[in-house]
Amino acid sequence: MLAKVFHLLASVLSISCANYHKAVDVPQDITQDEGHCLWKDNNDITFINTLTSSGLFDSTAPRVFKNLVNYGGDMWFYMKPYPSNGKSGSQQMENVYQGLKSAQIKFSHITVHIGDPQLWSSGSDANTISKDLIQRADQHGISVQFFTSQSNWHSITNNNRSFSSYKLWWAHTNGAGNGGATSPNFEGFVSFGGWTSSSLVGKEYARQVQECGVTVNKYVYVK
Ligand SMILES: *[C@@H]1O[C@H](CO)[C@@H](O)[C@H](O)[C@H]1NC(C)=O
Repeated sequence: MLAKVFHLLASVLSISCANYHKAVDVPQDITQDEGHCLWKDNNDITFINTLTSSGLFDSTAPRVFKNLVNYGGDMWFYMKPYPSNGKSGSQQMENVYQGLKSAQIKFSHITVHIGDPQLWSSGSDANTISKDLIQRADQHGISVQFFTSQSNWHSITNNNRSFSSYKLWWAHTNGAGNGGATSPNFEGFVSFGGWTSSSLVGKEYARQVQECGVTVNKYVYVK
């Protein structure tokens, strides 16, 4: 009994003592000063969007990167593929790759955001697009991580489990604003899409909140 209690205590402690780092994603019109402020607030990673809803490279991304690179910790890139723009996953990935390459920005991984169920007509679209963009990313030596919530993944992909070997950023809030924020840790994670707690690298715990006078989404992650 005592051993059991100790075991439980140890596992609870190891969860709550995980070394979480902070990250944000930022609007494309962020200034250097705002980036600097976010960095001083202990945000180690700034996420920058790279794709427009038309599936084209977001040409503001290099400016955001260059603005913040000396002031904002690590810069990571994400893309949010859209099914309705007629472009395949590989085209959308290629546009991001070429855009960053021609801006002479080196990157080795990208976070693929699967959200907004209303945009996806059927589950097969997201699965095909994801598979296709991963193949293109592989060709360029870029590794992929996923960002999604349990409910979005269920409704968009019908809970497809074939991407569970990729790392997961778990989106988990109860809505926008501070009132919708959840705890800044991985507690309470429930497996979906074949992802387990060992797949987790990060969690979005607050959406559209103010920090340094900027509207950001906030994350914790483990290195
Ligand atoms: C999951 O996605 C993969 C990759 O596109 C696809 O081959 C597979 O059929 C999907 N599985 C289900 C159950 O829809």
